[in-house]
Amino acid sequence: MRKIAILTSGGDCPGMNACIRAVVRKAIYQGLKVVGVRRGFAGLIERDISLLEATSVSGIIHRGGTILKTARSPLFKTKKGQKMAFESIKKLGIEGIIVIGGDGSFRGAYELNKNWNIPTVGIPATIDNDIAGTDFTIGFDTAINTALEGIDRIRDTATSHQRLFIIEMMGRKSGFITLWSGLAGGVEEIIIPEVKTDIDEICQRLEKGRNRGKNSSIIAVAEGDEAGGAFEIGEKIRKKIGYEIRVVILGHLQRGGSPTAMDRILATRLGSAATDILIRGERGKMVGLVANQIKISPLCNASERKKEINLNLYKLSEILSS
Ligand code: ADP
Ligand code: F6P
Repeated sequence: MRKIAILTSGGDCPGMNACIRAVVRKAIYQGLKVVGVRRGFAGLIERDISLLEATSVSGIIHRGGTILKTARSPLFKTKKGQKMAFESIKKLGIEGIIVIGGDGSFRGAYELNKNWNIPTVGIPATIDNDIAGTDFTIGFDTAINTALEGIDRIRDTATSHQRLFIIEMMGRKSGFITLWSGLAGGVEEIIIPEVKTDIDEICQRLEKGRNRGKNSSIIAVAEGDEAGGAFEIGEKIRKKIGYEIRVVILGHLQRGGSPTAMDRILATRLGSAATDILIRGERGKMVGLVANQIKISPLCNASERKKEINLNLYKLSEILSS
């Protein structure tokens, strides 16, 4: 293998740059040429690439976002788009591709390998942490620390004004960010898609707390919960128990910022491992970290298997906040 490509795809996250740096420098160390594809699969179709040298990735390890830019490409989901990408790959002499992204991007990488015989390796990077085959995805640690800072700040004003706050976190259909930041912030209630939401029970617990002198509370809610978003849940609670409620949607704040040390190290380890396995001929695989060890698994597992959330953490939060 002489020339590989690297791209970032789907939602960006802190740590993508640290990962790009690791892949580029490790590949150059192993004697390869590396090209960077801008804007994910869209850039692959449009041949929006440039050669990356060791110095191209200087001074980026601490920066959020992705220097390669990212995109969601509906065209790449079609046979026509994939054929165009295949033609670009052949024309540019690319012999393998490292895809940094979430489960959608992994599906794209899987298709490129399965249908078009292009060696691909995926590196899990999304704030959502919803990819099976790794304990943590790149970006998750930074996102939960950002969310936690939000909770801590809200706690100050909630306590001063004796109010109920509802904070909505990202996560698409999964509650990892909400559960982990909620546990770390000691919130009174955690609402996630993985656990059935009972508004009556939540109201009873809030009332119980109020009766024993608690006059402010925080509820952390995941954006994908079946009971609705933070505003909807807030309205339901207000109608039942008449609290003064304020709602905060953390939104894209959770996607930005300088990556934590944990995310930089995870990105560096996974970037290096992905390069090694691509060079030694693995294809259609992803790298992950399981019990602090590098784990290689099939890309298709990541999109087909749902990653289980640790419900013991949910139970623990319930016990400690009751
Ligand atoms: P993420 O990777 O963060 O989950 P998306 O789900 O938006 O983000 O996926 C990113 C991109 O991956 C999509 O815009 C598309 O180009 C590609 N992709 C997603 N699903 C598929 C699929 N089933 N087949 C081929 N490509 C896909
Ligand atoms: O997958 C990352 C994520 O931030 C999700 O948590 C969120 O639901 C989604 O992307 C938002 O996507 P967009 O940036 O396209 O609004």
